[in-house]
Amino acid sequence: MDANTKTLTAEHIAARSPGPSYQDLLDKEVNPVPDSLRENTNPYLGSDNLSVDRYLSREFHELEVEHIWKRTWQAVCRVTEVGEPGDTFVYDIATMSIVVTRTEQGTLKAFKNACLHRGRQLVDKTGNYKDLRCPYHAFTWSLDGEFKGAPCKWDFPHLDEDQFGLPEVLVDTWGGWVFINMDRNSQSLHDYLGVLPAHFERWKPENAYKMIHVEKVIPCNWKVGWEAFIESYHAVATHPQILPYTDDADSQYDVWGPHISRTITALGVPSFHLKNLVDQDVVDTMLGVSPMVARPTEAEVPAGMTAREFIGQLNADEFSKNHDTRLDTFATNSERMDSILYSIFPNFAPWAGFHPNITYRFRPNGDDHTSALMEIIVICQLASDAERPKDVPVRRLGDNELFSQAPELGESLGTIFDQDLFNMPMIQKGMNNVESRELILANYHEVRIRHFHQTIDKYINGEL
Ligand SMILES: [Fe+2]
Repeated sequence: MDANTKTLTAEHIAARSPGPSYQDLLDKEVNPVPDSLRENTNPYLGSDNLSVDRYLSREFHELEVEHIWKRTWQAVCRVTEVGEPGDTFVYDIATMSIVVTRTEQGTLKAFKNACLHRGRQLVDKTGNYKDLRCPYHAFTWSLDGEFKGAPCKWDFPHLDEDQFGLPEVLVDTWGGWVFINMDRNSQSLHDYLGVLPAHFERWKPENAYKMIHVEKVIPCNWKVGWEAFIESYHAVATHPQILPYTDDADSQYDVWGPHISRTITALGVPSFHLKNLVDQDVVDTMLGVSPMVARPTEAEVPAGMTAREFIGQLNADEFSKNHDTRLDTFATNSERMDSILYSIFPNFAPWAGFHPNITYRFRPNGDDHTSALMEIIVICQLASDAERPKDVPVRRLGDNELFSQAPELGESLGTIFDQDLFNMPMIQKGMNNVESRELILANYHEVRIRHFHQTIDKYINGEL
């Protein structure tokens, strides 16, 4: 990365939108604000440019496979999707495939998904299996990975069966998600996640069920897709319809260690880019746009209340349908509506808060560095003793299907993702035509993209 030549002053580095900031909004909360939301790391990570080769070159993709996909903790599925003995989940990343099983004893295991005989992928697809049996010659392993046998075993006198277990990879859980790591020498998932588990303790994502899961192949490098979801700067140009209720310019960005970052964008307040909106305008544009926003779809803001307070109250009403408690007795308005979007390096981004949480995941589409798999998952919290609906299966959209055509996303929320989608192939194509072969990043609004690339470099350079 080449540095820009202009020398920056402290004032340049401290430059922020005139506000009010997210922290100013927290000052108005009636209920106590959790420490995690009061954290404001305010990072400045330099002003270097980014080479387009990081997105376009096959060599860079191969470095990512070697140093990132083979060495990082990656979210695979919900714990409840492998909840019963025999439940088996196939997770593919680049050329690799990992199979996660729930054993008869109830423990989770993860193995490299290949038959140790002639190398066929052992498990083709997610399901519930008695054992892991290769379809080619019926070499069979238990859900624990122990070798159970093969036809004509007399023909393999040279095989040491005690040494013929499936090679394991690391598996662990956090927040109701299963994670794997192919690097057996990796730090624990808990250490890898840094501040994240403590921050989420309050929101209990482990008690949620998966209510929406939509995926689509997108025609761009996986990082192009990912980076559209870790900054709010693009809202003004790409999503103008959300500005009446989205405080995009005043978003707060945080980073902790190499793996965790966060954007908080306050909702229920108009964008700094818009002038002269009244509270009723905010409510009229925000109600009904997504499963994250309260029903009804129309309501009049009561006298003496702000739009943010009113939406907060409606969301508390909604939450009380599934819980014995009411959010307005303990939760901030921020936790009832804002986009509090964390990311776990390299590719997993869960929203936080008590409202249903959108979660994004991006990864290369198979081993193709010019297309990616984009997933939108929504989990919905329930009381710990509530009966959980079954997690929904994934809906794969076809090449010509839009997110707004997925009924579970609905037109308003789906349209937001479609707007991002329309940019993606144009970003991928445009990068080829950037004369300098370098991209410029904002110091404040795009700091998470810098953080992400700096962590990529640390992995590739062997510093992590
Ligand atoms: Fe977007």
